Amino acid sequence: MRPRSSKATASNIHAKSRASAPGKIILFGEHFVVYGVEAILCAIDRRATVTAEQTDDNMISIESDIGRMSSEPGRHISDVTPELRPFYHMADVRGGGGGGGMRITIESEIPVGVGLGSSSACCVAGAAAVLGLSGSAGREDILRLAVEAERTIFENTSGADCAVCTYGGIGRYDKTSGLARLDSDTGIDLVIADSQTMHSTDAVVERVRGFRENNMGDFARMCGEESGIIDAVLGMLKVGDACGLGKMAARNQKLLQRIGVSNDTLDKMVRIGQDSSFGAKITGAGDGGCVIAITDEQGREEVMERFRRDGYECFAARIDCTGLSYGG
Ligand code: PMV
Repeated sequence: MRPRSSKATASNIHAKSRASAPGKIILFGEHFVVYGVEAILCAIDRRATVTAEQTDDNMISIESDIGRMSSEPGRHISDVTPELRPFYHMADVRGGGGGGGMRITIESEIPVGVGLGSSSACCVAGAAAVLGLSGSAGREDILRLAVEAERTIFENTSGADCAVCTYGGIGRYDKTSGLARLDSDTGIDLVIADSQTMHSTDAVVERVRGFRENNMGDFARMCGEESGIIDAVLGMLKVGDACGLGKMAARNQKLLQRIGVSNDTLDKMVRIGQDSSFGAKITGAGDGGCVIAITDEQGREEVMERFRRDGYECFAARIDCTGLSYGG
C-alpha cells in the first residue's frame, strides 16, 4: 500500500512516530496447524511502514492505498470500513479520543490478500507507530495491540503472523505453545510467485474442515506425515540444508493437494518451481495466493526467469531477521 496524496488539512501536528515491520510466509505446516501440528513461519524482506501523527483537530484520519477515511473518535468499530478497522481501533484506544486527533499513513511493499502477512505487518508497524507517540513501547506491548487490532477484521487470528512480523526470523508455531523463534539464519533464498488471485483464508479453512470430517482416518495419517516433515525440517534448518528443505516442500505440497487447497493454476506454478529449484509448494491457505520455491543465491535468477517466462509475477525474498523497526 502506497500512500495516496493527501489533501492539506488545517490540523497542526504535535508529534510524529514511524515504524516498519516485515511480511511473512508459512514455510511448512499450513492447515495441519489448525489441528494441532506445528507450523514453521518466517518473516520476509518486504516491509510495511506506518506513520502516526498526533494532531489537534480531534479527528482520526487514515491514508492508504486500500482506502482512506477521516472520522471523529468513538465510533462503533462495525461502522468503520473493514480494512481500516485495525488502524481506527489503535488510534481510538490510544489517544484519538480525549481531545487529540491522529493521522495514520500506511505504506507497504507487501502484496495484499495473498498470504504474505500484509495485514499483520501493517498492524505491527501501526501499533508501534501509535504507541511510539507517547514514548517507546516494548515489543510485547506492541504485539498485544497489533493482535487486538487485527482481531477487528480476523476474529480468530492465532496471533502467530503478528508475532513473526514483530520479532522477525524463523519461528515454530503450535496452537498450544504459540510461537518460538528458532535461532537459525539459514541463508536459504526463496522465490515467491504470486497467482494474483486473492484468497479467503476462512473459506478455505472451512472447506478443509469438511474434508477432514469426511476423511477422519486419512486426515489423521496426513497430520502424522506433516509432523514428520516438520521434525525433518527443524534439523535441516539448523544446518541450512536447502536441498533437503526443497524435498520436504515437495512432500508438503502433496499433502496440500490431497486436502484440496491447490488448483490448476497453483499446480502449474508449483511444477515450474519444482523444475527450477530445490522444491516448491503453496504458502498459506491456498486456492490462490502464492507459491514458494526454495533456492539459493546461484539458482535464484533462473527460478524467477522460469516463472516470468510463463507470465507469473515473482520476486526473490530472504528471511528478515530484524522484525519490527522504528524510524525509516
Ligand atoms: O494464507 P494465510 O497466510 O492466511 O494462511 C492461513 C494459514 C492456515 O493454516 C490455512 C490457517 C491458520 O489459521 O493457520
